[in-house]
Amino acid sequence: MYKKFFGLTRCPFEVSPDPYFLLPTHQHREALAAIVYGVLQRKGFMVLTGEAGTGKTLLVRCLLEMLRARGVASANVFNPTLLPHEFLSYIAGDLGLPKPGQENKGELLLRLYNYLIARQRAKQTTVLIADEAQNMDAALLEEIRLLTNLETSEHKLLQIVLVGQPELDEKMDSPELRQLKQRISVRCNLEALPRVETEEYIWRRLQKAGTNYDAVHIFPPATVGKIHSYSKGIPRLINTICENALLNAYARQSGTVTENIIEDVAKDLRLQVTSNSSSALHPAPFVDSQSLATSLLALASFIERAGYRAPSHPAAPAHTQIERFKVV
Ligand SMILES: Nc1ncnc2c1ncn2[C@@H]1O[C@H](COP(=O)(O)OP(=O)(O)OP(=O)(O)O)[C@@H](O)[C@H]1O
Ligand SMILES: [Mg+2]
Repeated sequence: MYKKFFGLTRCPFEVSPDPYFLLPTHQHREALAAIVYGVLQRKGFMVLTGEAGTGKTLLVRCLLEMLRARGVASANVFNPTLLPHEFLSYIAGDLGLPKPGQENKGELLLRLYNYLIARQRAKQTTVLIADEAQNMDAALLEEIRLLTNLETSEHKLLQIVLVGQPELDEKMDSPELRQLKQRISVRCNLEALPRVETEEYIWRRLQKAGTNYDAVHIFPPATVGKIHSYSKGIPRLINTICENALLNAYARQSGTVTENIIEDVAKDLRLQVTSNSSSALHPAPFVDSQSLATSLLALASFIERAGYRAPSHPAAPAHTQIERFKVV
């Protein structure tokens, strides 16, 4: 409705996670590089956590694009309520294994194992990514732990990336899942965006949505400051506020989203201002420098294809990003 008014070719603030709109912030880059590294180096078991709406599923979609481009076969599970047998059967189906009709769990596991062994012999990598893992019950998480046992004497046959909200960490802290926790080799956490990245995030989305107007004129810095306070830097909330704000501005025929408009939107959405959050990623993943370079090259080419240009005020200089990785 407002697209023509703001010179847009598409909606800039859809809430679905679309890699086209990725803002590769410092922490998103680090997480992507660490997980790509972990998968390609067959580290086995990796975990990505973050509060709701911080971009985990978006990162999964970017990761799948990057890994597929490097010949990695993937199964992506996003339904945490599957029973263990259904879960295994879904993985086999998503990896493209033919379905032989009725089979028991043992036969299914053997079929999966033979497939993974064949890929391993051909020096090919296979990954399982399970999203929304905070909602998986202990039986399913235990099934995943058993999958981490599929290995040869040298390598894990299946790389597993578990993705979920912070409750996932709490689950893995429980005594019955401590064995799963011990297997984590790469761990990343996404946090809310700091103010400077909220600004970059909003302006970049407008530009990617094709606006031929000045993004800073549509959302001036003071307005962005208000959006940051109300959203606490959570990307999904930023999207919701901005989408409503554009509609509101259009209704007033105002080419600029004012602070008053954000106040109105926040009232309608019943948002309350609380303290800011930081953008730190912790704890740092453990990566050796050569593999890190490979992951960063893959990431750089992905970002370049997405048409990203570094901002004039990067959140952290490039050398800081490298230093955050520890050499094992
Ligand atoms: N770095 C980013 N660049 C561009 N868009 C982002 C970024 N991070 C998050 N978003 C956007 O924020 C919204 C929420 O992201 P996403 O669905 O990936 O969150 P999530 O962490 O998976 O949340 P949940 O825990 O509820 O599943 C999406 O529209 C996504 O595109
Ligand atoms: Mg998600």
